Amino acid sequence: MAKDAEKSSGAEADDWKEFVWNPRTHQFLGRTASSWGLILLFYLIFYVSLAGMFVLTMYIMLLTLDEYKPTYQDRLATPGLMIRPKGDSLEIVYSMKDTESWDHYVQTLDDFLAPYNNSQQVMNNDVCSPDQYFVQEDSGEVRNNPKRSCQFNRTMLEECSGIVDRYYGYRDGKPCILIKLNRVIGMFPGKNGVSPYVTCGAKKEDRDKIGELMYYPPNGTFNLMYFPYYGKKAQVNYTQPLVAVKFANVTLDTDVNVECKINSNAIKTQSDRDKFAGRVAFKLRINSN
Ligand SMILES: *[C@@H]1O[C@H](CO)[C@@H](O)[C@H](O)[C@H]1NC(C)=O
Ligand SMILES: *[C@@H]1O[C@H](CO)[C@@H](O)[C@H](O)[C@H]1NC(C)=O
Ligand SMILES: *[C@@H]1O[C@H](CO)[C@@H](O)[C@H](O)[C@H]1NC(C)=O
Ligand SMILES: *[C@@H]1O[C@H](CO)[C@@H](O)[C@H](O)[C@H]1NC(C)=O
Ligand SMILES: *[C@@H]1O[C@H](CO)[C@@H](O)[C@H](O)[C@H]1NC(C)=O
Repeated sequence: MAKDAEKSSGAEADDWKEFVWNPRTHQFLGRTASSWGLILLFYLIFYVSLAGMFVLTMYIMLLTLDEYKPTYQDRLATPGLMIRPKGDSLEIVYSMKDTESWDHYVQTLDDFLAPYNNSQQVMNNDVCSPDQYFVQEDSGEVRNNPKRSCQFNRTMLEECSGIVDRYYGYRDGKPCILIKLNRVIGMFPGKNGVSPYVTCGAKKEDRDKIGELMYYPPNGTFNLMYFPYYGKKAQVNYTQPLVAVKFANVTLDTDVNVECKINSNAIKTQSDRDKFAGRVAFKLRINSN
């Protein structure tokens, strides 16, 4: 019995050896050299074609990409609004008597408005005709790049420019807040030569506290000449138009919930998908001591 087992295990070992290398048929792992060669050749060709196809698709895709504008852009029906200065939350809260409590707002506005200095604008940008779009399309394959941009002079913000009053009204409890419209490439925000404009108001319970508002430029408009926007790469010196709102007689020592919105005859401001579309809400509180 023990002999039998030994014999059969010896035969098994021989079978195994013969499977790995069979000297009679010259087969390695059950295949001849030419059979192995064919298999390797097949896989080589297979993978080379796969790689080729990948490179080709990639190449064609890159050809269709335009360096100057994103191929896919999440087209928002309505662009958002944002305020400056803006802290971590949408709140402007300070005490008139405590300089340190509002100094950082002034600093933020100074930094934000530096590129709007008239001297900068004259150097970088053109004087455009107001109330009409500044269209600079490419003609077919001929690129019209780089594209020029229109001047938005800091002095157009008048009382809120930081030049007439270098504290932007914060010291006197009549603060200025800047509003900008988020950039959307290729957006035409008004029809029939009517520019979109900003209006601000208070939430119902604060309506009698908000006081008189002043808008700069007049009527709080984003002039059509600053549109359409062609993207950072095509329009290198683009200066975003701004609207400044001055709270000239806001009630002190109380929270005032303010909401500003864009009014336009070309873009929808009521959106079911995004109820913040085209508007921005923030809290304003000025303490008198
Ligand atoms: C812009 O103008 C302000 C006020 O006139 C001045 O303090 C500031 O240095 C100017 N900044 C630049 C970058 O020209
Ligand atoms: C901006 O200011 C400069 C000099 O102050 C002036 O020459 C230019 O016409 C102004 N541009 C606009 C669009 O008002
Ligand atoms: C951008 O501004 C610079 C000066 O700062 C000017 O030399 C250049 O021509 C401007 N480019 C365009 C496309 O307006
Ligand atoms: C502001 O709006 C009023 C009324 O709609 C209009 O008469 C006036 O011309 C506008 N002012 C400017 C500078 O657009
Ligand atoms: C400022 O608002 C108060 C009420 O909050 C009002 O009594 C006062 O007449 C307003 N002043 C001006 C100049 O509008």
